[in-house]
Parts: sequence; C-alpha cells; structure tokens
Amino acid sequence: MRMVDVILKKRNGHVLTKEEISFFINGYTEGTLPDYQVSALLMAIYYSGMTEEETANLTEAMVASGETIDLSAIEGHKVDKHSTGGVGDKTTFIVGPLVASVGVPVAKMSGRGLGHTGGTLDKLESIPGFTIELDKEAFIEQVNTHKLSVAGQTGNLAPADKKLYALRDVTGTVDSIPLIAGSIMSKKLASGADSIVLDVKTGSGAFMKTMKESQDLARQMVTIGKHLGRNTIAVISDMNQPLGHEIGNANEVKEAIDVLLGKNIPDLRRLSLELAAHMTVLAEVFDSYETAYIELEKNLDNGKAFQAFRSFVEAQGGDISVIDNPDKLPKASYEIEIKAKETGYISSMDAELIGIAAMHLGAGRATKEDTINHGVGIRLLKKLGEHVSIDEPIAILFSDTNVARQSEEAMQQAYTLSDKKSDVVDLIHEVIK
Ligand code: URA
Repeated sequence: MRMVDVILKKRNGHVLTKEEISFFINGYTEGTLPDYQVSALLMAIYYSGMTEEETANLTEAMVASGETIDLSAIEGHKVDKHSTGGVGDKTTFIVGPLVASVGVPVAKMSGRGLGHTGGTLDKLESIPGFTIELDKEAFIEQVNTHKLSVAGQTGNLAPADKKLYALRDVTGTVDSIPLIAGSIMSKKLASGADSIVLDVKTGSGAFMKTMKESQDLARQMVTIGKHLGRNTIAVISDMNQPLGHEIGNANEVKEAIDVLLGKNIPDLRRLSLELAAHMTVLAEVFDSYETAYIELEKNLDNGKAFQAFRSFVEAQGGDISVIDNPDKLPKASYEIEIKAKETGYISSMDAELIGIAAMHLGAGRATKEDTINHGVGIRLLKKLGEHVSIDEPIAILFSDTNVARQSEEAMQQAYTLSDKKSDVVDLIHEVIK
C-alpha cells in the first residue's frame, strides 16, 4: 500500500477501508510515514470528512496503537465520565463520589489543563499530600476498596493520538469533528470502562461553540462507543458561562466540597446529578433516570457523597483536615475586585476569556511547561441574567500580585451588559443515547 494513494483517495472524497486506516495509523505511530504525508491526509480528512464506520475504524486503530487498561479485576460495572472541557468544571469531584456512594466503581484517568480550561489532576493537587501517581495495582485496589480513584494516565495509552494531536496542532486540523471524536474516544476506550458518559460542552467557553457542532461531535462519539462495544451516552451541556462561581484550582475544590455538603449551587449541582444519574443507570443500579436522580440527590443531602469524597482523598494521601476545613486550602495573597463599568443586566459572558483571565493569574498553563499556582483564581459574583449597578463588584480575582492587568482587562471584556433581562439559557440542552 502506498500512502500517496490513501491521500488521493481521501482528497477525492472517497471512503477509506479499515486496512487503509490501520496502515496510516500504524505507519505514523511506528515512524515509517513522514509528517508531510500524514499532514496531507489530515487536511484531506478535514475537508472530506469521514463516515461513521471510518471514524470507528480510526478510533479502533488508535486504541490498538498502544496499551489498554484491563479493569477486569475491579468488581462491578465500571463507568467513566469525560468532559470535552469547560471553565470552572469541577463536576468530577462531585460526580465521582456520588456514583461511588451507590456502589458503582469509578476508575478514572484524568488529564492536566492547557489553555483556558483547567485540569482535574491540577485541581486535585491543590489538596496537600494528594497524589495522582498510582501504579496499576494500587489504582485497582483503591477502586475495589473505595469505589473511586482518579489518577494520571498510566502506561502508553493511544500513542497514535499523542503524535497525531501534536501534528494537528501545527497543521490547522484540530477542529475536524471525526478527528476530535476519534482522539477523545481512543483514550477513553483504552482506559477500560464498561460504560461512558460524555459531557459535551457547547457555547462561548467550549471547544464547540455552536449546538450543531456539539450535536455532531456528541453523535459521532456515541456511535464510536457503540461500534466498539461500550454503552455510551452524551449530555450536551451549556458552557456560555463558567460552571458554578469559582474558577481556578483550590477554590474549585472548595466549591465542590460545598456542593457535596448539600449547598445548592444550582448549575453545578444540577449537572453533577444529571451526569451521575446517567452513569448509575448505565451501571444498572437504577432502572430509570428519574429514580437515579432522586436517590443520588439524597446522597448529596445526607452526607454520603461527601464521605465517599473524603475517603477517596484520604486513600490517595490527601490531608483530610483540609477537606474538613477547606479554608486551609492554598490561597493567594491579594483580592482584586472587578467592578461593573455600567448598569444593566448581564446578557453574555465570554467563558473562554474568563478562563484565559484565570490562566494569566497562574491558575492554568499557556504552554505545557508552565507550573500551576493552586491558590490563585476567580470568583464570579454575578452571572448571566443578573442585574448589576455601575461600580458594583462583579468578580474577585485571587492573585499573588497586587495588580493583574491582563486578567483584569480580560474580565472587563468578558461581560456584556444590556438594558433588558434576557431569557435564561438551559443548562442541559440534549441527551444523546
Ligand atoms: N481533546 C482531545 O483529547 N482531542 C481532541 O482532538 C480535542 C480535544
């Protein structure tokens, strides 16, 4: 087989066979195909797209390019959750313990943050002592004992994706829906869960800014999951404003603890229950979404989910006294108020800009090499639809410098006010099964 023929076939809009897709994935992973030919094929895929079957074959070949995690030593039906990346998204810290609190094992491998979205591992590391480095045996043992573990990726999962993603990044081919779907699902499938719930974000802070793109991505990922024998559901959730009020690391952990202790932070609590309900139905613990939702709500309010979080943190070496007294979490030295420039209703928020403001404070990484400052971040005092008066504080920056000009400017730009109160947007747009 010659790579040039595969490129020409896709360039001319034809469907690639399973063998052709494996040839390109294996050749690139092993280093026998040069970057320039793979770049040309990626661009042809970008323009010509892929059928459902091609995307499933692409994903399967990427999974087969490396190790897969065998979770069969964990008793019960393993469910995983994946978010396509948002701002202020700390649902894993609520969903994981909630699902664990009804006995469903969650063996979660997470990533670090890059750019405007934060990473679960970075946030967890704001708890003193917490380790995300568990070997496979410790990871499995912890899930069997505590029903929950969140660890950094171990082993060489989907190495083809790692190489391809780096190439896409510099060839203008990141935002191709079949390539994104294959990339995300290859890592999820290699991590071994029986069922997967995807939280596909849509809106100003999401990778996918429009409903149409989000639906397309969600459908393709659900189809891949099913093709490859895993029960997969996608929830399309709104990301036209950050989730909850806190954006950063330690402050996000604290906000999650508040919800686990029964505090009603409406969007955060609602989305966490939604995702957890679907996960427990897929795990066949409840026979309907409605029953699952009601039962899980009880475990948020009676402290069982909090206890599950506490024992998970303790098992991974985290200082429990910090969980019991979250004021002991790292905190920045200065608080800088962001004040409204005019009077009106908040009609839009650029969640991506807010994420970038947090990144400039040190809560996120502009490049992979940057280090995280766990104590800095942003608290939103006002969100979509709320009324503000001129000079009223709309947000607080937690900063380790007394001036944070880039972040202050980004925050001012992120809010748009109008005279009229706009309609409240739905948090859950659609569930794709
Ligand atoms: N996240 C991924 O893991 N892959 C993509 O292609 C895009 C987002």
